[in-house]
Amino acid sequence: MDKTKFLDLGKQPIANRFLSKDDFEDEFFYHLEVGLDQETMLVTHMNYVDAPMMFNDNYAYRGSMSTTMVNHFSMFSESMRSILKPECKVLEIGSNDGVFIKNWNKENTIAVEPCGNFAKETNELGYKTYSEFWTAELADRILEEHGTMDFIFSANCMCHIPDLDQTFESIAKVLDRDGIFVFEDPSLSQMICLNSYDQIYDEHPHIFSVTALYKILRKHGLHIIKVENTTVHGGSNRIWVQGKHANRDRTVTDNLDAEKILGLHDTSTYNRFAESVAKSKSDLVNLLTRCKANGSKVISYGATSKSTTVFNYCNIDTNMIDYITDTTPEKQGLYSPGTHIPVIPPEEGIDNTVNFAYLGAWNFSEEIKAKERNFYGKFITHVPTVRIL
Ligand code: TMP
Repeated sequence: MDKTKFLDLGKQPIANRFLSKDDFEDEFFYHLEVGLDQETMLVTHMNYVDAPMMFNDNYAYRGSMSTTMVNHFSMFSESMRSILKPECKVLEIGSNDGVFIKNWNKENTIAVEPCGNFAKETNELGYKTYSEFWTAELADRILEEHGTMDFIFSANCMCHIPDLDQTFESIAKVLDRDGIFVFEDPSLSQMICLNSYDQIYDEHPHIFSVTALYKILRKHGLHIIKVENTTVHGGSNRIWVQGKHANRDRTVTDNLDAEKILGLHDTSTYNRFAESVAKSKSDLVNLLTRCKANGSKVISYGATSKSTTVFNYCNIDTNMIDYITDTTPEKQGLYSPGTHIPVIPPEEGIDNTVNFAYLGAWNFSEEIKAKERNFYGKFITHVPTVRIL
């Protein structure tokens, strides 16, 4: 790939590796730089972190921790069932804790999940789960053992895989001639519009535009037939793909046109984005510094991978944030990657002593505001601009 660097987010740790004090000394860091591939217009890291460093048997992110995501996958499954044959064969790539596959029937559904802790859970529930990374070799084995798939789904996983050519080529092999492949990942347009640079971390080596996907998929005989813009994860695209020339609907052209108008084809857009990111950093640091100087108690709501990027890029540690609350049992009692802020359960950390809560999980702000109706303090966000809500 011929990449041009446009953004430097500095020294970053593994975003989802929450740690105990004993692990502080040996913590792994890498240099997070982002570039634009000149051929495909793919926004991608200049260098990739090795997959097993991120996805292993201690992986901490659970999709089911948010009602928004549980509902999102249940509604989507319901709508897919109405267009697929009842006995259709379903494959999910990157099944996490089963938040999507639990909506499907165990007999006809298989899953792939490299994080052993989650693969074990879904295997125990009765869904055949391959505890491996998606590779061409695994695709061949699945083809041999189960035949072609009618529906392949993948959420927040394609953007995790550095080698998209190998990935899409092997998906094309496993997909039935009349099959459908749907995947969803954070949208580059939304990231640019919301200045949500925290979509970028080790697990997201690419932030997809429809423009880039269109070019890359086509190399493997895969064609985008529909694009849905969704609000999940701070703005995602759900991309519908078929292996043969099917009629594409106007959402494909609409999205391609909108991306052109937004300037995703111009290098200057990415340079302007980098300037806005730097401004977001100084605004956030200034705001938190002012809050602390007034003697306020400031916490963070949601120990997210996104907040790992923000805290490390902005050097935000316990001098500015007292602690982080998070509902995920695997994260509680540990410290945030890189800047080592303690993570505690919300029951212990959200009370009337808190003046401000930075929304680490800003992408779930509606769900959080509804849940925390009686919260005494005020929320702070950096998306799309730094402010007190
Ligand atoms: P994500 O932004 O990477 O999806 O992570 C969201 C994190 O926020 C996840 O660890 C669960 C946590 N969370 C809470 O602690 N409380 C909440 O109300 C919600 C919606 C999420």
